[in-house]
Amino acid sequence: MSNYNEAINTLIRNRRSIKPESFSEQVVPENILIQILENANWAPTHGHTEPWRFIIFSGDARRKLGNFEANYYKNKTSEAQFVQKKYDKALNRPERATYVLALCMKRQTEGKKIMPEIEEVAAVSCAVQNMWLTAQAYGVAAYWGSGGATYSDEMKVFLDLAPQDKCLGFFYLGYSDQQPQGKRNSGIQDKIQWVNTNYEL
Ligand SMILES: Cc1cc2nc3c(=O)[nH]c(=O)nc-3n(C[C@H](O)[C@H](O)[C@H](O)COP(=O)(O)O)c2cc1C
Repeated sequence: MSNYNEAINTLIRNRRSIKPESFSEQVVPENILIQILENANWAPTHGHTEPWRFIIFSGDARRKLGNFEANYYKNKTSEAQFVQKKYDKALNRPERATYVLALCMKRQTEGKKIMPEIEEVAAVSCAVQNMWLTAQAYGVAAYWGSGGATYSDEMKVFLDLAPQDKCLGFFYLGYSDQQPQGKRNSGIQDKIQWVNTNYEL
């Protein structure tokens, strides 16, 4: 096996959230999307439930998603609180991307062993990270957004999800000239504890 350590370090540390508003008009070729999806399918999965499901909005369907999000915002917001800019952003955002993937978790309803829901959400998140890193490797900009209607019952109906399934957000893919600076509030040393007789906790 070749030596991937430099490649993986560079890829992971340079992966960034790039918002669709900064995407260009350039279209992501479908063969790249297929590679991104293929790698999603190789995420870890407890009990081989493979709970990730992706509903792909492209072309005119992106408008449908924008309309849904914008109407949801309008319906849930009082007149006094309504901000036209927010409405327009929700309406137009999907069309800024070549593809928008609804990130969904399909819950098991039968089988020898039903996995805890938290593990199914974790597996989908692993699949999303696989996609994000693959996008980065292909020079494709990506963004995971979870605002607006994401967790609503209306979204489940819109996406035709079963009540036990979940939408975890939307994944936007496009091209961008922007490469935002990465930022972390603290280093990994602040987030680890050694349990080892050689170290004092
Ligand atoms: C589950 C999840 C949901 C997210 N939802 C949003 C969101 O709704 N809005 C947003 O601005 N960023 C969202 N993000 C992206 C984070 O803001 C972003 O990952 C964080 O700022 C770190 O930046 P980086 O991805 O460039 O390292 C989400 C990330 C995750 C993992």
